[in-house]
Amino acid sequence: MTDVTDAPAPAWTPSAAQHLERVLWVKHWTDRLFSFAITRPESFRFRSGEFVMIGLPPAPGETKPILRAYSIASPSFAEELEFLSIKVQDGPLTSRLQHIQEGDAVLLGKKPTGTLVLDAVRPGKRLFLFGTGTGLAPFLSVARDPDAYSNFEQVIVGHGVREVNELAYRDLFTKDIFEDPLVGEEAQKQLVYYPTVTREPFERQGRFTDLIASGKLFADLGLDQTKFDPEHDRIMLCGSMDFIKDMAALIETHGLVEGSNAEPGDYVLERAFVG
Ligand code: A2P
Repeated sequence: MTDVTDAPAPAWTPSAAQHLERVLWVKHWTDRLFSFAITRPESFRFRSGEFVMIGLPPAPGETKPILRAYSIASPSFAEELEFLSIKVQDGPLTSRLQHIQEGDAVLLGKKPTGTLVLDAVRPGKRLFLFGTGTGLAPFLSVARDPDAYSNFEQVIVGHGVREVNELAYRDLFTKDIFEDPLVGEEAQKQLVYYPTVTREPFERQGRFTDLIASGKLFADLGLDQTKFDPEHDRIMLCGSMDFIKDMAALIETHGLVEGSNAEPGDYVLERAFVG
């Protein structure tokens, strides 16, 4: 007979709303920024640009997992699910998540959702994707999706950061994507990478709001306009609350209208998730 007090505690199992997946790789960009990829369950479907809940099984002594919303950085057809994350030393999730290694267990929510998707913007000529910090993540997905290049003549990826070393995925946008078997050829002709740094010297400096208001962005891109054009320009925004608020207010003065899944528009926005 087994003494129940000696029996091991029952193993924790994920809820019906979560998959238990495995870490495939981890890449640390800086002491504040890292990327990782996990296995993708066969049943898991999402649209490029969507976000999903990501978490870790409870730590010893805890009963509940901690989950946070993360934009999926890989495109909708990719075999693995990739994420870009900040590291917050006392963050409830990222204080632990930053230490994950290949083979570790990660929880994946079953219901991806979001508005930074091609379905939520009306047809147009140019697609501007403006992300600050980890707000680049959904655009890593959209810019690697062939639909972005068939729907738009030009795809502009703007990444705004404080310091040069936070320009994660610079190699992807300056080199690797042009060799991608699926979008490489289109990217060579249609993709423009537009990085900017605000707190140290770099080839381009300043906040997107200032680069747009001054007209510099349009001049840099060789466009014969000083404002966004509601007829041709479509915009996706992802970053801090202040960033998306200020950018939305600015582009509304150019006549662009916010869209959603239910009613596609000229621009869409989402907050980049932190913590
Ligand atoms: P800045 O260095 O001038 O604050 P953060 O890490 O705070 O999210 O910032 C990421 C990037 O976004 C930084 O380059 C920052 O510029 C810029 N940024 C922050 N807030 C705004 C805003 N309200 N409008 C435009 N750019 C912003």
